[in-house]
Amino acid sequence: RPRDLIHEVCQKLLLSDQQLRRMMVAMEKSMEKGLDRETASTAAVRMLPSYVCAVPNGTERGGFLALDLGGTNFRVLLIRLKEKEAEMTGKIFRVPENIMRGTGEALFDHIADCMAKFMQEHDLKDAQKLPLGFTFSFPCAQEGLTKGKLINWTKGFNASGVEGADVVTLLREACQRRRDIDIDVVALLNDTVGTLMACAFVENSCQIGVIVGTGTNACYMERFDRISKISDYVDEEGLVPEEMIINTEWGAFGDDGAMDFIRTEWDDVVDRQSINPGKQVFEKMISGMYMGEITRVVLEDLARQKLLFGGNFEAISRPHCFPTKYVSEIENELLEDEDRTFQKTFQILEDIGIETVSSNDCVNVAYVCSLGFRAAHLTAAGIAVLLNRMGKPFVTVGLDGSVYRFHPTYPKLLDEKIEQLVNKGLQYQLMLSEDGSGRGAALVAAVATRLKLEKL
Ligand code: BG6
Ligand code: GLC
Repeated sequence: RPRDLIHEVCQKLLLSDQQLRRMMVAMEKSMEKGLDRETASTAAVRMLPSYVCAVPNGTERGGFLALDLGGTNFRVLLIRLKEKEAEMTGKIFRVPENIMRGTGEALFDHIADCMAKFMQEHDLKDAQKLPLGFTFSFPCAQEGLTKGKLINWTKGFNASGVEGADVVTLLREACQRRRDIDIDVVALLNDTVGTLMACAFVENSCQIGVIVGTGTNACYMERFDRISKISDYVDEEGLVPEEMIINTEWGAFGDDGAMDFIRTEWDDVVDRQSINPGKQVFEKMISGMYMGEITRVVLEDLARQKLLFGGNFEAISRPHCFPTKYVSEIENELLEDEDRTFQKTFQILEDIGIETVSSNDCVNVAYVCSLGFRAAHLTAAGIAVLLNRMGKPFVTVGLDGSVYRFHPTYPKLLDEKIEQLVNKGLQYQLMLSEDGSGRGAALVAAVATRLKLEKL
């Protein structure tokens, strides 16, 4: 039966706990390499210091601006921190593809332009310079809270002249070029750090921040004595911190081949067609930018083997014709459509241009979509590595991103698998973190401003 054959072909996407545990060992090794002074420069998992050494204590107050670049939306936000809550106004702007992949100068001019519009609309231009938190969701080698060089672009970005440059300087220069806005960047942070901080504001035990959206990444609170590559760092008061949030950049796990025992030929196709082949191996197996495409590549393969759509493979062969949103919609229908009419699934496949769809095809397509649970299991293994490494009795994991928010089965599958992989005696809970790039950025900015004022 074609269905049995399909299940057989797709077997490779099912990961056993044994494979996941093997991956966990490799990931922790890669993380240790990234923290160690001797080996950090060659580690696939970069383990970037954030210079954020404490989670908020709930007393943070004040008005802040925040910029959020690198997720689905580019946003400018105005946040007022009050007791246990944050009042937020924001605006979403588009970053057109030609700007994402044009020159760095044009990209930062566009950001400054959007900021100016926002400030004008909110009558902020003449207001006292508000401290700004810049959530920049790409790997940055930070030297402090307000300085960070982009190591390399990830996801769909590729603007020239930015890799290797300090992105805070680029932002300041863009503002200076237009003369009509004045900004005070007090913090540069990764979106995972914002996610952790936003969650910690309401739940003090939050010590891990995870994004599963366009890309995937995690940060966690690490013991400072285990970050040997910055062992000579002292904070503003000359003190050695006890802990620091490390942005793992786990999306690049496997770039050195450590995931080859799990990767399939389909992962390889997706990688080769991307704008950064060989890079972000773990991310490409998990996140929203690639989940639909992996599914499409599998469907194309099955159609070519005449196991789907009566062997009609042309329409499904068009790269990116099957966005991740379809995976969620088809899975949703599988959960909700008790009569198995597959109305939505038929519609999607028809829209793609596949002419010969049968009910059986719909069942099989839904099956392939459900294999997206590999993504949840891989993320679970990553989170379990962090929980086990930290060894704290109770940790809250703050999560955000479109896959975590909108994929119908992902959060549950993630939770169940972590439970199986985490060391005995360790407790954890998963929590949706609301608006890391707004609230979280404001919190990092608030702590930075407080320290600055204390110094005066
Ligand atoms: C948002 C966070 O909700 O999720 C952003 O506030 C983050 O900081 C984003 O970058 C990630 O998800 P996505 O799906 O937009 O890439
Ligand atoms: C990519 C980026 C990383 C970010 C993640 C989630 O992996 O490199 O910095 O946190 O996407 O947005």
